[in-house]
Amino acid sequence: MNQQKAYKPIRKAVFPVAGLGTRFLPATKVMPKEMLPLNDRPLIQHAWEEAREAGIEEFIFVTGRRKGMLEEHFDCQFELEQMLDSRGETEKLEKARSCNIEAGKLYLTRQPKALGLGHAIWCAREIIGDEPFAVILPDDVFLAQKSCLAQMVEAYNKTGGNLIAVTEVSKEDTARYGIVDIEKDNGNTVSIKGLVEKPAPAQAPSQLAIMGRYILQPEIFTHLANFEKGAGGEIQLTDALVKLIGKQEFYGFRYEGIRYDCGTKLGFIESNVAFGLADPQTGADVKEMIERLLKSR
Ligand code: G1P
Repeated sequence: MNQQKAYKPIRKAVFPVAGLGTRFLPATKVMPKEMLPLNDRPLIQHAWEEAREAGIEEFIFVTGRRKGMLEEHFDCQFELEQMLDSRGETEKLEKARSCNIEAGKLYLTRQPKALGLGHAIWCAREIIGDEPFAVILPDDVFLAQKSCLAQMVEAYNKTGGNLIAVTEVSKEDTARYGIVDIEKDNGNTVSIKGLVEKPAPAQAPSQLAIMGRYILQPEIFTHLANFEKGAGGEIQLTDALVKLIGKQEFYGFRYEGIRYDCGTKLGFIESNVAFGLADPQTGADVKEMIERLLKSR
């Protein structure tokens, strides 16, 4: 009988949000980058909604200085809600409440120095404890029928182990991503024999790149605790992942959907256009607007 093994559920997600967002200055001089709006909501809310859709129950923000607005955004804004309620503005009230995190389900931990993504994840170790968890990088956003993390959780329920979201990038772009050394390509999932963080195109083992969604086993913390510096002199998550290969189940996961990059100015503009077009309420008008703008140039 083909009995499916039950793996420990993915209940917690880590959101590394301590970055200074200097690429977006002056917009991010005071405002956290994760609060910049993509279509009708801040970037961090897209990431949080994706986590919820994937069944995540507890949300862990790895924050830093000047990031207070992020926790405010997910808290109950009592005066605002009361005012909208008293005016009978139900739809707006619903929107204001749409991102109130249930009491006791949001955890905040600090990354005191920008030492790298690996270090940021390590800062969440005590809150994660001994269970598998997800990592969501809010700069990477997806337009998909089913959210990228939800697809990954579904795949994880069959494979267990560690899963990282991957997609093909152009040769010149390998230097911007963690790149997979492929052992066996099975289509949706890819067996991995190695990973390299931001290799120059000539050194890249493939063009299959890590996108910012991970499902990880807690053993990753043992490797992160070595604080080994990698690409760019930073403590890289990718380097710690390499240590798990061969010891635990480890797969690349080709998601369905399109990923947009909100980590660069041009990528952010593209994401806003794509999300505006995909929004059923605004799509047709945005399309007309773009055509009009193009004609007028
Ligand atoms: C991080 C990871 C990298 C991954 C990328 C996806 O890099 O280190 O492996 O490919 O996110 O966006 P960052 O963009 O934070 O430099």
